[in-house]
Amino acid sequence: MTRLATRLTQRLGIAHPILSAPMALAGGGALAAAVTRAGGLGLIGGGYGDAGWLEQQFAAAGNTQVGCGFITWSMAKKPEVLTQALAHRPAALMLSFGDPRPFAAEIAAAGVPLICQCQSLDHVRQALEAGAAIIIAQGAEAGGHGARRATLPFVPEAADFIARESPDTLLLAAGGIADGRGFAAALMLGADGVLMGTRFWASREALVHERHHAVAVAATGDGTVRTALPDIARQLDWPKPFDIRVANNVFIAKWSGRDAELKAAIDTEAPAYREAFMAGDPDKAAVIFGEAAGLIRDVPSAGEIVEHMVAEAATLLGRAGRFLA
Ligand SMILES: Cc1cc2nc3c(=O)[nH]c(=O)nc-3n(C[C@H](O)[C@H](O)[C@H](O)COP(=O)(O)O)c2cc1C
Repeated sequence: MTRLATRLTQRLGIAHPILSAPMALAGGGALAAAVTRAGGLGLIGGGYGDAGWLEQQFAAAGNTQVGCGFITWSMAKKPEVLTQALAHRPAALMLSFGDPRPFAAEIAAAGVPLICQCQSLDHVRQALEAGAAIIIAQGAEAGGHGARRATLPFVPEAADFIARESPDTLLLAAGGIADGRGFAAALMLGADGVLMGTRFWASREALVHERHHAVAVAATGDGTVRTALPDIARQLDWPKPFDIRVANNVFIAKWSGRDAELKAAIDTEAPAYREAFMAGDPDKAAVIFGEAAGLIRDVPSAGEIVEHMVAEAATLLGRAGRFLA
């Protein structure tokens, strides 16, 4: 088996420096366990903190070691779900989108490594204060929620910052990585590994409607937008500076520039949106993926994705000497 060894593989005792993102609703126990079994580390998408769903997904992961992630500002309203997740002794606990510091002591006391997903250097500073073992620099290319920075300059800037302030803290790159090229590039940028959402969302184990998968397979990277519209429709009170990257579909076109009208019609639009999403309607609700969809042409198993990423990145890194004049 080809392997790429980094500080992350050593620290977590895994074969490949690849994590699957804790994607709300889409990233359940089956996907997380499949990524771990393939030699990476899979994270259950604890999302907004639904206790019942979380139990089901830890059960679905069975005896395979997985981690778990939460949307911090939402979990903060019901912190008992953090305690519930820690009781499962996850391999890591990831927090994104909000101040991780209030939860760091409980996670440290459980002996679980804290992963913080960051969208700016200010977030990186906060994550270091929280004692994060691993920081993820997430670029705006990413599917799902995020902010403004682009992966290519943000990752090396975060790497330099962490090397100065806290050299033992590890760094992962996220946002727009879906094949061995992005994986190899992330290592060159100074990351110890990668976290991928969109690529694993388009896998057989993800909890994603097949009509949504078909949209991603057909899409190019041009076909996504960052917007607040799905959060308005779902009545989710996302704080600044976050918005969400989704497919630029009929729902987005219909409401684009009409946030106030959507809010005014929310009593009828919210249930209609929910129903369309649950039915897998690719037009009347958001389909959540990032620019990496332009690199995705199939829906393989998560294990095949990991294997292909590693083989391709290893080949490319092995050939890197050809650039030396
Ligand atoms: C469908 C979907 C749902 C997501 N949900 C979450 C989430 O609940 N919590 C979180 O921290 N990140 C979430 N993300 C963002 C990922 O953590 C990650 O930053 C992103 O997927 C990386 O970029 P990529 O999609 O280009 O791989 C989600 C991403 C996608 C595609």
